[in-house]
Amino acid sequence: MNELIPCQRNSSALLLIFFTIFTFPFLKVASAACHADDEAGLLGFKSGITSDPSGMLGSWKKGTDCCTWAGVGCLLNNRVTSLSLLGQPDKPNSFLSGTVSPSLSKVQFLDGLYLQQLRNISGQFPELLFGLPNLKYVYIENNKLSGKIPENIGAKLAHLGALSIEGNRFTGSIPSSISAMTQLTQLKLGGNLLTGSIPIGIGNLKNLTLLSLERNRLSGAIPHFLGSLSELRVLELSHNNFSGSIPSSISSLAPKLAYLELGQNALTGKIPDFLGKFKALDTLDLSHNKLFGTVPRSFGNLTKIFNLDLSYNQLVDPFPQMNVKGIESLDLSYNGFHLNQIPKWVTSSPIIYSLKLAKCGIRMKFEDWKPSETYFYDYIDLSDNEISGSPIGLLNKTDYLVGFQASGNKLKFNLEGLRIVKTLKYLDLSKNLVFGKVPKAVTGLQQLNVSYNHLCGAIPATKFPATAFVGNDCLCGAPLPPCKA
Ligand SMILES: *[C@@H]1O[C@H](CO)[C@@H](O)[C@H](O)[C@H]1NC(C)=O
Ligand SMILES: *[C@@H]1O[C@H](CO)[C@@H](O)[C@H](O)[C@H]1NC(C)=O
Ligand SMILES: *[C@@H]1O[C@H](CO)[C@@H](O)[C@H](O)[C@H]1NC(C)=O
Ligand SMILES: *[C@@H]1O[C@H](CO)[C@@H](O)[C@H](O)[C@H]1NC(C)=O
Ligand SMILES: *[C@@H]1O[C@H](CO)[C@@H](O)[C@H](O)[C@H]1NC(C)=O
Ligand SMILES: *[C@@H]1O[C@H](CO)[C@@H](O)[C@H](O)[C@H]1NC(C)=O
Repeated sequence: MNELIPCQRNSSALLLIFFTIFTFPFLKVASAACHADDEAGLLGFKSGITSDPSGMLGSWKKGTDCCTWAGVGCLLNNRVTSLSLLGQPDKPNSFLSGTVSPSLSKVQFLDGLYLQQLRNISGQFPELLFGLPNLKYVYIENNKLSGKIPENIGAKLAHLGALSIEGNRFTGSIPSSISAMTQLTQLKLGGNLLTGSIPIGIGNLKNLTLLSLERNRLSGAIPHFLGSLSELRVLELSHNNFSGSIPSSISSLAPKLAYLELGQNALTGKIPDFLGKFKALDTLDLSHNKLFGTVPRSFGNLTKIFNLDLSYNQLVDPFPQMNVKGIESLDLSYNGFHLNQIPKWVTSSPIIYSLKLAKCGIRMKFEDWKPSETYFYDYIDLSDNEISGSPIGLLNKTDYLVGFQASGNKLKFNLEGLRIVKTLKYLDLSKNLVFGKVPKAVTGLQQLNVSYNHLCGAIPATKFPATAFVGNDCLCGAPLPPCKA
């Protein structure tokens, strides 16, 4: 009975409602209304919010059915089971300021709490969550929570299936009690200010499919116990200060791992052969480390790799023959490669959108590069190679290009003939042999660099600094000295 008409505490009212429902079935309003505790808990949450400029909580009005409020989900005879508030990153007004009120603990049947991209929710880790026995999914992402992750989190939230507090300002180390959260399938702590090493207890979380600790200040070795997380699909450890080599124990993740991101750390040693056995690998980022030696020939077996970033290491020739059908994005820049040509498996990809081969020892005529697909390209960086000829033909075919960087080559063409598509924002042709005048069409770009070429004539009015134009034969006018009359 209580479940049916939960908002009524007073028993005579209960009786009245009982009869109302059964005598006038069309008046089922009361049975659809939420439980008083849920209403009080949610209104308490609302009162902790000090600013809601987009009116996200506008529908949260006392006395109305809280199951109809924006972001509130009900199950189990109209008990509130989920709260899901999502800010829209492209709308400046779409944020909430304030803290997560302890009143939320009144919403006893809460199973999922999703407070994502609200940007300005602050305060400490909301320990009220410890009092919610049914809680399974917590995603408090891209807010401004700070302080330490509570030491006892593992004991208190042992039944969580997913925990994400990524994109906040948590400090301190990852509590070792996290080892008790054995039901977790996702653990996302990325984008905070966490320090220390990865606690050994993470090796207990055998049901994890996703572990993301990226963009923190974690250090130490990549622990061998990650190899025991045999369900992992996604392992993201980029942008930390991990050192040492890639441990051989993670070869046990080969059957299922699809994303391996270890970029922007201080890893040393060789790229292990066993990575070639990761048949499901879709994304591999080892960029900005101190890896040396050759790329293993076993990489030829990575037939499903879509995104490969090995840039900024000390890798050397020969680069292996790859057998991937369609690479989507590739970055091999700033290693010790001498590829001579843009590899065939790149040129033939039907789906490539980003190609970065800066300082890869490419020596060719631009016109000799005939990619089988140009439609999806949005980024091409071929800086610091020995490429001659003209990119005019290619740029005539790339309708959605956003960035074209080809600084430090031997490109020789009339700049006035270059088609500048509407989407183009970044153009760097510095240190080449480009001639002609600077066309007016460059004014729409966000960044331009045509310094150190053979350009001549008056510069059209632009916002770019002098360093974007210096070192040419006879360019003149602002920001360079005025043209002679
Ligand atoms: C975010 O919250 C803080 C304090 O809670 C406040 O000072 C600041 O103005 C808020 N920012 C926005 C964009 O509302
Ligand atoms: C992992 O998940 C399965 C169900 O998918 C469950 O039976 C098992 O208890 C979980 N393992 C751990 C260590 O919690
Ligand atoms: C990274 O770790 C090394 C020791 O392994 C330390 O010397 C260095 O200061 C750390 N760098 C940062 C940015 O924390
Ligand atoms: C690719 O895998 C097969 C078997 O799975 C193996 O025989 C072969 O040596 C591998 N190729 C490379 C280049 O490692
Ligand atoms: C650009 O492409 C068009 C057809 O799409 C063609 O008519 C024109 O000649 C091309 N221009 C250059 C410079 O290749
Ligand atoms: C342009 O390129 C030159 C040489 O590559 C560099 O020194 C200069 O800082 C760049 N200027 C701008 C505005 O990017």
